[in-house]
Amino acid sequence: MTRTIKILCIVGARPNFMKIAPLMRAFSATHIPIEAKLVHTGQHYDVAMNEQFFQQLGIPEPDINLEVGSAGHGKQTGQIMIAFEPILDIEKPDAVLVVGDVNSTIACALVAVKKGIKVIHVEAGLRSFDRSMPEEINRVLTDQISDLLFTTEEAALDNLLSEGIRAQQVFFTGNVMIDTLYANLEQAIPAQSTLSNLNASHLFNSSREFAVLTLHRPSNVDDPKVLAAILDTIVEISKKCPIVFPVHPRTQKQMEKYGLDSKLHNQTIVLSGPLGYLELLGLIQKAKLVLTDSGGLQEETTALGVPCITLRESTERPITVIQGTNTIVGSDPLKIVQTVDEIFETGGKAGRIPPLWDGEAAGRVADILVAQLCEKQE
Ligand code: UD1
Repeated sequence: MTRTIKILCIVGARPNFMKIAPLMRAFSATHIPIEAKLVHTGQHYDVAMNEQFFQQLGIPEPDINLEVGSAGHGKQTGQIMIAFEPILDIEKPDAVLVVGDVNSTIACALVAVKKGIKVIHVEAGLRSFDRSMPEEINRVLTDQISDLLFTTEEAALDNLLSEGIRAQQVFFTGNVMIDTLYANLEQAIPAQSTLSNLNASHLFNSSREFAVLTLHRPSNVDDPKVLAAILDTIVEISKKCPIVFPVHPRTQKQMEKYGLDSKLHNQTIVLSGPLGYLELLGLIQKAKLVLTDSGGLQEETTALGVPCITLRESTERPITVIQGTNTIVGSDPLKIVQTVDEIFETGGKAGRIPPLWDGEAAGRVADILVAQLCEKQE
């Protein structure tokens, strides 16, 4: 008989929600002997950054919420660890599953491994090779202490092997974030209605062309000079093509702190707070191009065949550049404008969908977990 195993699944920040949704669904299938409980660290807590994703993606209510909220890296990571440790004593899970690369990921993985509980990392092995990124530290450390590592693209295996991880621990299962994208394409809220809610219907009347911008990396928004230069560039681009800019809370705070928010008050830049998953999906589907420093959007644009300009010096997701629609440009204004012009002239890279980005990744993760954790221990 296959024994049932208990897994605590961790979420904390916005990009975790799209990854956990298909996994929770896969684990709830009757033939899968996994009892999954959802733990929310509370790293993100605003309705716009949190609740609306649970609703739109049909994620079950968290069984446990640690309610840690915002703080500096050390304090936030520490508070998650302190709050999570007693949960493990009460729940006594067989394994803890973490996704992605946020502070909640490393914090919960670290507490679990020290208690001798197996750690499962979904979206393992991605490397930007830029250790000034907090996420890169979280990735490297989480992978080092994980027992089972699930990867989204083939390059991740080489990264893991070169860091001493054994090949038997690593499983190339594809991209759970793209599972969520395919599962929600039909429900995506049409760009037209989101633009109309933002009083920007006119963007749909003339050339019907617009760009979407997202920006939140500390390296882009925490230094006033860098942020001002990016915003000036955005204003330049908006003269050619209207830009929809849903502003991350960190970026909003920094723009206000440095008195830069007024730069964007013009007719062709549409500002909003963070949008829901279905609103953003509808917008990027119809966008001429996406400018971003997000990891998830680099993948989502590749899956949708929409040109993406990444405002970072490197990417941990090289497949989006090699096979997808992504171009890495950094924060150099000239390069950004040149790349936008190129996309307008040529339509951008055609791209193709990477292997195993097929909407079935979470099912593969569930099957492997059953084989590795339930059946091996009989
Ligand atoms: C975190 C992740 C990042 C991810 C991003 C997506 C880490 C190290 N970073 O960055 O990888 O791409 O989430 O959003 O884990 N805030 C609010 N409301 C919220 C959440 C945050 O106002 O619900 C504000 C707070 O001022 C907070 C700031 O945003 O201090 C930053 O939040 P935090 O979770 O520390 O990092 P993010 O920049 O969101």
